[in-house]
Amino acid sequence: RSFCRAARRLGLGALCLGVAFLAGFYHGLYRMWLSPRGARPLQTNLMFLKTHKTASSTIMNILFRFAEKHNLSVALPAGQDVHLGYPHCFKAQFAEGFETLGQSYNIMCNHLRFSLPEVQRVMPNTTTYFSILRDPVSLMESSYVYYKTYSPAFERSKDVNEFLASPWMYYNLSERTKNVYARNCMWFDFGYDNNAVGTEDYVQGVISEVEQAFQLLLLSEYFDESMVLLRDTLGWELDDVVYFKLNSRSPDTVQSMTPESKEKVKEWCWLDWMLYQHFNRTFWRRIQEAVGLDRLAREVTLLRTRQKELMELCLLDPMPIDKSRVKDKNLQPFQSGHANILGYNLKDGLTNETRRACLRLIMPELQYMSYLYARQFPEKERKSAPFPLW
Ligand SMILES: *[C@@H]1O[C@H](CO)[C@@H](O)[C@H](O)[C@H]1NC(C)=O
Ligand SMILES: *[C@@H]1O[C@H](CO)[C@@H](O)[C@H](O)[C@H]1NC(C)=O
Ligand SMILES: *[C@@H]1O[C@H](CO)[C@@H](O)[C@H](O)[C@H]1NC(C)=O
Ligand SMILES: *[C@@H]1O[C@H](CO)[C@@H](O)[C@H](O)[C@H]1NC(C)=O
Ligand SMILES: *[C@@H]1O[C@H](CO)[C@@H](O)[C@H](O)[C@H]1NC(C)=O
Repeated sequence: RSFCRAARRLGLGALCLGVAFLAGFYHGLYRMWLSPRGARPLQTNLMFLKTHKTASSTIMNILFRFAEKHNLSVALPAGQDVHLGYPHCFKAQFAEGFETLGQSYNIMCNHLRFSLPEVQRVMPNTTTYFSILRDPVSLMESSYVYYKTYSPAFERSKDVNEFLASPWMYYNLSERTKNVYARNCMWFDFGYDNNAVGTEDYVQGVISEVEQAFQLLLLSEYFDESMVLLRDTLGWELDDVVYFKLNSRSPDTVQSMTPESKEKVKEWCWLDWMLYQHFNRTFWRRIQEAVGLDRLAREVTLLRTRQKELMELCLLDPMPIDKSRVKDKNLQPFQSGHANILGYNLKDGLTNETRRACLRLIMPELQYMSYLYARQFPEKERKSAPFPLW
């Protein structure tokens, strides 16, 4: 079933389910008895499957900051690459230093195509797995603009509506790798065949595998609610999940989709549509069980208040700004396709300590990655000068 995973032997699945059920039961009891206020023990071993065009760069920044705060090691791409081998199925050797550090990394969050057994060779057994999904309709528009000049299927069509009106005119199955962004990209990122026939059995089988491997699936549409749930699941502090939106796009590069196109996505990206529908349901169930709607509302307000406070403290402008207005060229975000990716300026005259903290909130991912790489592998010769973060 999974492209990236050897078929599991029959019978093992049922055993796993039984164990998972018991584990869940005891975990529930543990929470009731040992943590009356619902506070979970702090989780520091984390695998975040970074899906594409789903606000995952903002989560990556959260994880990088957390890694620095607790001096944790990050499974960074070998050879100072930007991805962990994407779009190939992940292999343990794709993580820098795997031969010596194997299974002792704390955090993994770069783009990769998921393969559980290979990830398990890198991450400790106590790792919490999570990811983020986005409504395939808006995801398609975002991918179209961002990968316009990369995916042949997108390149050949005029705009997202023309593409969706007759996708098979532009989408060539033999250009698989470069076209992964054009169809069921989330399904692909989770390690499955994005061109598979979506029979009910197949879809349900994949969804239950994802459910077994991942403890938590967040949703881009409910990002702040997702941060509350993440913080609760990982036993983190509020400031750990406060963020400034990164890698966002200027509204003038957003294409408007016709109602027909929106409907068409559900058919063209049926696998992603089913995936999203399922986890959109379980997300709200999880919120109700773990947090409750009252606490959710309170914590979302706290998060937004703190975010506003930090934006006022750190930022020169009240909103993300055009790349041409980012004064420090080291802080300019990477650009792609026809998207105009926005950035930030820091206020002048911040104290060193405040500047350090603010800088990390606005640091684009490639710069942050190269900084962490230099910190973790000081002996390696660097491809480019790491950003001076002192
Ligand atoms: C951080 O971790 C590294 C290796 O894991 C260790 O050598 C270093 O001493 C740690 N630094 C602090 C401040 O704990
Ligand atoms: C982690 O799990 C793997 C596979 O189940 C097992 O082989 C390994 O010994 C475990 N490692 C630790 C440290 O428990
Ligand atoms: C798809 O791509 C292959 C290889 O590049 C090419 O031979 C084939 O003609 C293409 N098919 C269509 C329908 O364009
Ligand atoms: C996700 O669930 C929410 C709440 O039930 C619902 O309002 C929304 O329409 C769902 N989204 C999609 C794309 O189905
Ligand atoms: C602030 O950082 C600058 C640049 O590294 C340094 O020269 C200065 O002494 C620092 N100021 C304080 C008060 O630490």
